[in-house]
Amino acid sequence: MAAILKIDNVCKNFAGLKALDGINLEINDDEIFGLIGPNGAGKTTLFNAVSGFSGPSSGEVYFCGENYTKKPTLDYCVNGLARTFQNIRVFGDMSVIENLKVGMHKNIKTNLFDTVIHTKKQKEEERAAKEKCEEIMEFLGITDVAGEYAASLSYGTQRLVEIGRALASDPKLILLDEPTAGMNEQETMALMELIKKIRKRGPAVLVIEHNMKFMMNLCDRIAVLNFGRLLTVGTPEDVQNNPEVIEAYLGKEEEE
Ligand SMILES: Nc1ncnc2c1ncn2[C@@H]1O[C@H](COP(=O)(O)OP(=O)(O)O)[C@@H](O)[C@H]1O
Ligand SMILES: [Mg+2]
Repeated sequence: MAAILKIDNVCKNFAGLKALDGINLEINDDEIFGLIGPNGAGKTTLFNAVSGFSGPSSGEVYFCGENYTKKPTLDYCVNGLARTFQNIRVFGDMSVIENLKVGMHKNIKTNLFDTVIHTKKQKEEERAAKEKCEEIMEFLGITDVAGEYAASLSYGTQRLVEIGRALASDPKLILLDEPTAGMNEQETMALMELIKKIRKRGPAVLVIEHNMKFMMNLCDRIAVLNFGRLLTVGTPEDVQNNPEVIEAYLGKEEEE
C-alpha cells in the first residue's frame, strides 16, 4: 500500500475567496476514496488542483511519489491520472467507440509516415486499439451502442462512455466528479458495483458524490470538506457518526 496521490497543504484562492484552505490528504493506490461536502465546499476545485486543470495557489501535489504541482494536465494523463467531469464531457458527434479511442490516443505510437502509407504496424495497432475498446465496452455493458453517436444516448449511458474514455488511458487513479448526477436509482446502484469492479481492474478511485447511501456503501475512506477546509477523514462509519459532519452536512440533508 502506497500513496498514489499526496495533497500537501494545498490552498486555492479566487479573488479573495479561499476555495481551498490548507488541504492535506493521502490517497492509497488500492482504495476507493470519497470526497463529500456541501455545494461550494471546494470539491471540484480540489479535483482541478490535483489534475493540472487549475493548479494550487500554494502547497504541493505528489502523484506516484513525484512532485506534479506545476505540471500540466497532459503530464497527469500520460502518466496515469484520468478524470470525469461534473458536467459530462463526451464528444457528442463521435460514436461511442471513437470516444473511447480518444482516451487511448497516447498509446497509439504510429507516426505520420506510417499513417500515410498504412503500414502493417499501423494496422496492428488499430486492431489492438479496437480490441481494447471492445473489451472496455463489454466491461461497462455498452457494447450494444458502440456505433451510436454519444449525444444520442441517455445521460447515464453518456456517463459510462466518459468513464470508458478514462479507462482507455490505463489510469492508475481515476477521479469521478459526481458520477451519479442525473442517474436513476437503478443506474446509481449499478454504477456503485461498476466502480468496485474498476478498482479490481487496477486504478484507485477518488470520487465526489452527494448520494450518501452510495458513498457509505462504496468507499473505504471518506474526507469531508466544508468551506474549503477538511472537517474530517475516516471510514464511512466514523464520518457518519461525527457530530461536526452531521451538523455541517448530513444534518442539513435530513432537513431537506
Ligand atoms: N473559477 C472560479 N472562479 C471563482 N470562483 C470559483 C471558481 N471555481 C470555483 N469557485 C468558487 O469556489 C468555491 C468552491 O467551488 P467548487 O469547488 O465548485 O465547489 P463544490 O464542487 O464543492 O460544489 C465556490 O464558492 C465557487 O463559487
Ligand atoms: Mg463540484
